[in-house]
Amino acid sequence: MTNPSSLVRTVGVFDSGVGGLSVLKAIRRKHPTVDFIYIADSGNAPYGSRSAEFIENRASHITDSLVDAGAQIIVVACNTATAIAVAKLRAKLTIPIVAMEPAIKPAVTHTKTGVIGVLATERTIESPTVARLCREFGQGVKILLQPCPGLVELVERGELSSDYTHEYLRKLISPLIDQKADTLVLGCTHYVFLEPAIQLIAGVKVCIIESSAAVARQTMRHLGNEKNIAPGEHAGRELFLTTGSPENAQAIFSQLWGSPVEVQALEDKQFHSGV
Ligand code: DGL
Repeated sequence: MTNPSSLVRTVGVFDSGVGGLSVLKAIRRKHPTVDFIYIADSGNAPYGSRSAEFIENRASHITDSLVDAGAQIIVVACNTATAIAVAKLRAKLTIPIVAMEPAIKPAVTHTKTGVIGVLATERTIESPTVARLCREFGQGVKILLQPCPGLVELVERGELSSDYTHEYLRKLISPLIDQKADTLVLGCTHYVFLEPAIQLIAGVKVCIIESSAAVARQTMRHLGNEKNIAPGEHAGRELFLTTGSPENAQAIFSQLWGSPVEVQALEDKQFHSGV
């Protein structure tokens, strides 16, 4: 018989900001009844140009908040936090942690030209994680690593298709296409919201790969089948929290989530209020 205390009802998801909403949407599509607590550390975004120590401390603090709130699984919906902090989080916590890394392996499998481009934050691009992925899967393939400083900030401001965003994306992407990249990896969860603009600039023949569906599948494996999920009398709910200004967050969260949502301030010890 399943022990009721091991039933999973609440999944905690976090990112440096709003990018992880792309991951949350992918999981929600697969699971309509589980509850989510999402924390955007927007007060400290972007992580991508911060020190490793800073990112580790933030990831640790945010996951503590999610666990205090009752999260039974943590999803690190941030490539940068995964690359820098996931080993320490796993050493500290006993609950399952689902994390993510740039989809270099599937991109290498997909490329026909033998050239792929990887778009990610500076900290992710220079991380041992990316070095390992290139070493393990990059044999015989040219991997063009493209750091994208400033792109996260544009998404945080909801500038998904402004002239400036298009111009900046063109600067980042055109050199990759000129070098015959036929596959682009979005190695940052924020960039998923720029996919239409990136596709427009890269051209329809270029394949864009990101990891949210893979993370959703991995989360589903942890959630297990229905009998391991606590019976819920309601559709799954989301609690959206931010370390930034909730007033500022409201519009961008609603824009990216696709319907109006309420965003609350993350305050220490505010939890056990129920999702
Ligand atoms: N969404 C985060 C990622 O996937 C962005 C990190 C940042 O804030 O720079 O890497």
